[in-house]
Amino acid sequence: MTEAELYTLYKGVYVPSYLHPPESLRYYEDFTFRPDDILIVTYPKSGTTWMQEIVPLIMSGGDPASVETLHNWVRVPWLEESLACTLNLEERPSPRMFSTHFRYNMMPPSFYEVKPKVIYVMRNPKDVFTSAFHYFGITSFMVKPGPLSEFLQKFLDGKVAFGSWFDHVKSWLSAEDKERIMYISYEELSKDLKDSVTRITQFLEKSLDMEVIEKIADRCLFKNMKKNSMSNYSAVPKEFMDQTKSEFLRKGIAGDWKNLLTAAEAEHFDAVYKDKMKDVKYKFVWD
Ligand code: A3P
Repeated sequence: MTEAELYTLYKGVYVPSYLHPPESLRYYEDFTFRPDDILIVTYPKSGTTWMQEIVPLIMSGGDPASVETLHNWVRVPWLEESLACTLNLEERPSPRMFSTHFRYNMMPPSFYEVKPKVIYVMRNPKDVFTSAFHYFGITSFMVKPGPLSEFLQKFLDGKVAFGSWFDHVKSWLSAEDKERIMYISYEELSKDLKDSVTRITQFLEKSLDMEVIEKIADRCLFKNMKKNSMSNYSAVPKEFMDQTKSEFLRKGIAGDWKNLLTAAEAEHFDAVYKDKMKDVKYKFVWD
């Protein structure tokens, strides 16, 4: 199926129509934040699910029930998805935790007034591309990637669900009120999860013993998270997500793009990256 059949163009960005009917986008636009809300923001395939595990564990003081009793999409729901309208989020006790895949300039008006805390997770775009290539192939509400060269061009042109990686990252890097935003990369999480959990704990102004932090980091290791049926998408019926072809928690490593892209494709990717990111001062760990 094509983009015209599966996607809706929302503020110039493709979103899967199945998950984002007009009423859910209206709910999103009218959403009222609280100052102590925590918002996990990602371009898809950058580590959303990982952060949906880490943050509830931190906020609950390491209580395993925080990630074992609710699916990740209920415990840290995407505000723009249809499910959000049904969860009675207005009644949830503070601090509430949400996710979004939207750009900074697509936030609802209340976001700019209330300024909730944001954790923005970034990942090497070549790995984002690689993860998306596999994920789009198993999910019924995403347009199939097709041949790699075609998907590469669409990705670099931002003609994929949630638009351009470049525009997403640039929008959040140039956001106002940066003291309310923590920027962290998938690669930092991969390299030193304990240190990353410590830093996120500090940003969220929680005080946890090192022993608790170590337990959280251990729970959030790929091999352990993969076993959590509340986070590994095993509850999603095969007709929506066929994990017999590729698992949602697929490889969980940095640098897997090397197993997918040819040298010429990687070179082309780098050239586009260099051009599109030329004005960005932020020092990415993968540069
Ligand atoms: P791969 O497809 O490269 O394995 P998102 O949640 O934003 O959709 O991102 C999904 C990607 O994050 C997948 O990447 C998935 O395996 C990876 N991921 C999720 N949890 C992880 C963890 N605990 N450790 C490492 N990678 C993780």
